[in-house]
Amino acid sequence: MRPVIIAANWKMNSTPAAAGPLAREIASRTREPTVVRVVCPPFVCLAAVRDAVAGEGIQIGAQDVHQEPAGAFTGWTSAAMLAGLATWVIVGHSERRRDAHETDAVIGRKVARALEGGLRPILCVGEQLADREAGRALQVVADQVRGALGGLDPERLVEGRLVVAYEPVWAIGTGRNAVGSDAAEMAEAIRRIVADLGWTGPEAAALPVLYGGSVTSANIGEFLAEPTIDGALVGGASLKPDEMAGIVGRAAMTARARVDAGAAVDRRELKIR
Ligand code: 13P
Repeated sequence: MRPVIIAANWKMNSTPAAAGPLAREIASRTREPTVVRVVCPPFVCLAAVRDAVAGEGIQIGAQDVHQEPAGAFTGWTSAAMLAGLATWVIVGHSERRRDAHETDAVIGRKVARALEGGLRPILCVGEQLADREAGRALQVVADQVRGALGGLDPERLVEGRLVVAYEPVWAIGTGRNAVGSDAAEMAEAIRRIVADLGWTGPEAAALPVLYGGSVTSANIGEFLAEPTIDGALVGGASLKPDEMAGIVGRAAMTARARVDAGAAVDRRELKIR
C-alpha cells in the first residue's frame, strides 16, 4: 500500500520572518496523521520552518541540491549542508531545468547526492505542451526518468524511498491542470519505466507518484480519485492555509480508504490461509 503524500513547494516565496508563522498555520490546519505532509520552503527559510513546526509531524524538504558534494560552487547548496534542516529534497523541477539549464544527467547526479546525504528525493518530470499535443508526452517523460535514474543503483533508489512527481510543464502556474486520467496513465507508465531499469515488480508497484500543476482544493479530488496517483506537489496553493486545509483534508479521505482496502485484503488472505 502506497502512502498519500502532499508536498508544498513554496518556490521563491516567503521570507525567514514570515515562513515560520505561515508553516505553523498550515500545520495546525492540516493535522491528518494518515497523510504525509512535506513543506519545501526556500533554503533561507528552512531553519525557521523547522523550528516553527517542531512536533507537528510535518516533514521538511529543500527545493534543490547541488550535484557535487562540496567545492568551488558559489551560491549553491550541498546535501551535507541540509543535514538537520531538511529530510526531503525536490530535484529536477521544470523551473530549474528551464532557468538553471539542468539536464537529466545533472539531475541524476543530484538524486545520487541526495541519497548519500540521507535526503528523500522527489524527482520531477513532465512534458511541454507541444510534446503533449504531438502525442510525445509519454516518450518525453520516459526519457527524463531514464536519463536521470538510468545510471543509478535501483536498490539505492528503493532504499532511499524515491518519489516521482509528474508535473506537465504547461500545467504549472497556469491554472490549467492536467486531466486526472492522463496523469494516472503517466503514473503507471513511470512505474513501468523503473521496472525496465531493474526495479523488481513489487518495488516498482510501490513507487509513489505525485501529480503537480495548478493543484487546488477544488481539483485535488480528480487526481486522488485515481488509484495510481499518490498525492500532489502543490505550488501556488501551498502558500494559502485554506487551500492546504482543503487539499490535505481530501487526501486524508484517500489515505483512509487505502488503509481500509489494505485491511480488507489482509482479512481475505487470512481467510484463504
Ligand atoms: P503550481 O501548483 O503553482 O502550478 O506549481 C506546481 C509546481 O510546480 C509544484 O512544484
